[in-house]
Amino acid sequence: VKELTLSKDLKGTKILITAGPTRETIDPVRYITNRSTGKMGYAIATQAVKRGALVTLISGPTNIDKPLGLSKFIKVESANQMYNAVMENIKDQHVIIKSAAVADYKPKKVSDRKIKKTDDNLFIELERNNDILKEIGQIKQDKILVGFAAETHDLIENAKQKIKKKNLDFIVANDLLQEGAGFGVDTNIVKIIDKNGDIHPFPKMSKEDIANVILDKIKLLLENKHL
Ligand code: CTP
Ligand code: CA
Repeated sequence: VKELTLSKDLKGTKILITAGPTRETIDPVRYITNRSTGKMGYAIATQAVKRGALVTLISGPTNIDKPLGLSKFIKVESANQMYNAVMENIKDQHVIIKSAAVADYKPKKVSDRKIKKTDDNLFIELERNNDILKEIGQIKQDKILVGFAAETHDLIENAKQKIKKKNLDFIVANDLLQEGAGFGVDTNIVKIIDKNGDIHPFPKMSKEDIANVILDKIKLLLENKHL
C-alpha cells in the first residue's frame, strides 16, 4: 500500500549510488574485505527507482538481488574497480550517494601464487586506495554529494570532518556500536549532518525508511537549487 502512495517525486533525477563492501586481493584464494552487506545502498537504490529516479548502482560483492528498474548496474570487486566505474559514470549525474564501505588499503603486491605458510608471523604490506568520495568532492560542480560515516567513536566530530574534507552536502552518520545499527541488520540508527553543521538524529528505523529520509533531503536540496 505504501508503494502505491509514493509519488514519482524524483522523476528524471539521475542518481549514482555505490553499495556494499570491496574486496582487495592478497593471492588467488584470499582477500581483505569488511562487514558491509550492501543493504543500505540497495535500499536507497530501490526507493529511488520507485520515486522515479534514473539510478546507476555500482556494487561491490553482495548477496542481494539486483533491484528492478535500474538504469545501470555495475558489479565490481576492488576499490580500484569501484573508482573506475564511478569516474566513468559520473558525468551526467545530479546526485551521488556513496554508501559503499570502500577498503582504505589494498595489498601492495598481489601474489599470483597461493602464499604458503612458513614463519610464525606473516607481514602483508598495504597501501592506500584512492578516496573516491574525496575526489568526487573536488570535481562535483553543482552535483549533490552524500557520504556515509560508520564510526565506533567520536561520531559527530568525525562525520563533520568528513563533510569538510570531502566537500559533501550532507553525511549519514551511524554509530556501529549501537544495537540495531550498522552492518548486516535491516535497521539502522543514523544522524544526518548538514554541511552547515545542523544535526538531525533519527530513531531506530528500517533501512527502507532511512533511504526515503535521505531521498527527501536530496529532493529539498534539488528544489532549492532550482529556485
Ligand atoms: N570512501 C570512498 N573511498 C574510499 C574510502 C571511503 O569513497 N577509499 C567514502 C565512503 O563510501 C563513505 C565515506 O567515504 O561514504 C566515508 O567513509 P569512511 O570509511 O567512514 O571514512 P574515511 O574517509 O575512509 O576515514 P576513516 O576510515 O579513517 O574513518
Ligand atoms: Ca574508511
